[in-house]
Amino acid sequence: MTDTASMHYLKDYRPWDFDLSETRMDVSIHESSVEVRTRLMLSRKADAGEKGPLFLHGEDLEILEISLDGRLLSPKEFLQDSRGLTLFDVPDAFSLFTRVRIFPDENTALEGLYRAGEMLCTQCEAEGFRKITFYPDRPDVMAPFRVRIEADKKRYPVLLSNGNPMERQDLDEGRHALVWEDPYPKPSYLFALVAGDLACLKDRFHTAEGLDVSLEIYTEHENADKCAHAMKSLKKAMHWDELVFGLSYDLSTYMIVATNDFNMGAMENKGLNIFNSRYVLAKPDTATDMDFEGIESVIAHEYFHNWTGNRVTVKNWFQLSLKEGLTVFRDQEFTSDMQSRSLKRIQDVRSLRARQFPEDAGPMAHPIRPEAYLEMNNFYTATVYDKGAEVIRMIHTIIGPESFRRGMDLYFKRHDGRAVTCEDFVAAMEDASGKDLSRFRLWYSQAGTPVLYASTELDKEKSILYLTLKQEVPDTPGQSGKKPMTLPVKTAFFTEKGEQAFLKFKGEKANAFLLVLESEEEIFAFEGASEGLVPSLLREFSAPVHLKTALGDKDLALLLAMDTDSFNRWEAGRILINRTLLGLMEDYREKRELHLPEALLAALGTVLENADRDPALAAEILSLPTEMELYHLLAAERIPVSPPEVHGVRNFLLDRIAFELKDLWERAFENFQTPGDYVFRPEDVARRKMKNLALFWLSRLPDTGFETVYRAWEKAHCMTDRMAALSLAVHFDDQRAEEMLDAFSRQFEKDALVMDKWFQVQALSRRPDTLKRVSELMAHPAFSMKNPNKVRALIGAFCSGNPFLFHQKDGSPYDFLARRVLELDSINPQVGSRMVSVFNPWKTFAEPWRSAMEKALKAIDSKKDLSPDIREVVGRALG
Ligand code: PHE
Ligand code: ZN
Repeated sequence: MTDTASMHYLKDYRPWDFDLSETRMDVSIHESSVEVRTRLMLSRKADAGEKGPLFLHGEDLEILEISLDGRLLSPKEFLQDSRGLTLFDVPDAFSLFTRVRIFPDENTALEGLYRAGEMLCTQCEAEGFRKITFYPDRPDVMAPFRVRIEADKKRYPVLLSNGNPMERQDLDEGRHALVWEDPYPKPSYLFALVAGDLACLKDRFHTAEGLDVSLEIYTEHENADKCAHAMKSLKKAMHWDELVFGLSYDLSTYMIVATNDFNMGAMENKGLNIFNSRYVLAKPDTATDMDFEGIESVIAHEYFHNWTGNRVTVKNWFQLSLKEGLTVFRDQEFTSDMQSRSLKRIQDVRSLRARQFPEDAGPMAHPIRPEAYLEMNNFYTATVYDKGAEVIRMIHTIIGPESFRRGMDLYFKRHDGRAVTCEDFVAAMEDASGKDLSRFRLWYSQAGTPVLYASTELDKEKSILYLTLKQEVPDTPGQSGKKPMTLPVKTAFFTEKGEQAFLKFKGEKANAFLLVLESEEEIFAFEGASEGLVPSLLREFSAPVHLKTALGDKDLALLLAMDTDSFNRWEAGRILINRTLLGLMEDYREKRELHLPEALLAALGTVLENADRDPALAAEILSLPTEMELYHLLAAERIPVSPPEVHGVRNFLLDRIAFELKDLWERAFENFQTPGDYVFRPEDVARRKMKNLALFWLSRLPDTGFETVYRAWEKAHCMTDRMAALSLAVHFDDQRAEEMLDAFSRQFEKDALVMDKWFQVQALSRRPDTLKRVSELMAHPAFSMKNPNKVRALIGAFCSGNPFLFHQKDGSPYDFLARRVLELDSINPQVGSRMVSVFNPWKTFAEPWRSAMEKALKAIDSKKDLSPDIREVVGRALG
């Protein structure tokens, strides 16, 4: 069908002219096609104005029958085009019946109903339901659903949809059927259906409201032994939401289905979540600590959506952050309570800087509530999700936790069962707290990362310390001349001895302050100040901004050692390291000799020596920024990125530090072993992290590097340790590294998720022949361009996780990616669009990389009939 995608604008939003009171579906699964019968009870709204036609979305649907109030319509009475179905003349109240045929086996875009291995499953968010049946596929149209599924009983013994299972029927010819009813009116994007031969892990949860809930996790039979951690995480999340937000589950079953073929992480369909199997399946032999963490947080995220997303949903897709920003905030808080708050904060900020800040500074920059989109799937972004969560966090900080909880209660009281907007959320917070959030709302409409400048001045005579805060909000595509925003800045001061100083601010004595900057510039006065106070600003990263201070290395070293906010201890270390690296890069450009600054070495050495006080924090401080993080640092400083320069300087620093701190790293490697069986708990995770970080540093030592890695490999008894060793071994030109890879793939060839790791470590190898290896691996029997996890593991990992080898002067890896993107354009545009985004920062690069990337983008752009997904990203990158 020809593509007629067009821009959608927030300003054009209008409610639908009809009411939909009930949706009944009958889905009949056959050998190679599926027949979908849908009955809609429709009535024209009283205030609908002139009596226009009825339009229903519908794509790639083969029409078998359309009837209105039981009367079969002739083809002259409706119009089908690439977007949907128009009925020109409909009464004020009627029932519409449609019967269509669809072909899930041919659906490689994994949107709508598709085949995933032996099972059939759906993905409807954002606009996939229209590939299943004709429907008002928009989130503000909500209805209760009754769904009958019919299929061959042997091939599809398990038939699932949203809500509660009703009657089961055995039919002729080995077929059976099951009816599901979901009493909670929902938009089509929350619809789900699964059919397959699946194993099920069951458990129960008793809600605070007295409902007995059956918890069910469905997987392929061979994965039945990998669901225990997901189940445990689910129960923790259910309990936490009752404790912290007073929110209980509301149906008698909560189902999770794991599939290997999934575009995203997971999906919160009402009562029937569908998950990428990487966020469900884990056991110590096959999953790393990071996998265990990811599962706990994604399981919680989808569960939390039942209230923030499903019970209260979005009025239109521009409001996506209403449910995503809020739900990410909730899952972050959950993880903070389950694991370690400060560690979680450090990791989240690191990922915000790695993904969202560059997005906000690039061609795809948009506010957390976008104003326009060509393809909605392109707006499931770090901005909507992660900056969206930061915005919720700032509200929490500004109004305080009690008011925030009251605001949440009020939000549900007002809007339960409705489709609402970001504005409705802010209004509830405002009303519950009595705080004026009018300027704060700019966070929803202005894109770009604000820059916050801070400086201090001491009036010695009066003992007053003046702190000046000043902000600038940068221009972004389509937005310039922005207004100053509300920036909550958590602040404390430390004496030279490292004591947290008590000062008088606005008449009150305290040792920690919440400053709220609401204008372009403001001076804050603190009484009782002495000389030499060191400010600790933006503690816990209280606002998503670029902070610029003039703190000297000595002050930073003090904060690194003494700050009571772990986040700012880490941050002080980061600034010291980044400053050093920027200096070295300048030396490199000027062809000066490179030196490792003693002060940095001493500071890191102290952290390492004291690592057992807080191994997790030490590990974060002692993990140097990646090359990609350094690209972002340079881009933010407006220094053109030269990949060999970053590579050379970072390697210089790594090798020098590894050498100078060798004894300490060796000691850490021994001290942080975790004896006994693998347990996923914060203390053990932290110890493994320190130990494997030590292994990383030791692997940099000439002569002994590989031996150390190889010995660690032989000793490894869980996937975390095995992957730590394997991911280091792949950099070496040593036959034993090949043997390790072979042994690994022989052992795990049947396990798709572990094979993803196997592809990924090879794609991340620093060996110069890696691109060749990646190309060869595309022919491996376990690889498939149709499987998003595989594409991400091999191609995604190489292009975005191996920047030095991806950014070659001759641009050959760019051609490689461009070709893959064009392939994906016809297989799976959503995945293709994520891949092509690697080129987004092309303008921040030096020549010749910059022009070579532009050339690759233009080559993609020149293809006719590009999917809207890829066309939108490429168009904006070039525009
Ligand atoms: N709504 C899902 C989540 O954040 C993400 C998702 C979006 C999944 C679109 C699939 C498709 O939890
Ligand atoms: Zn979500």
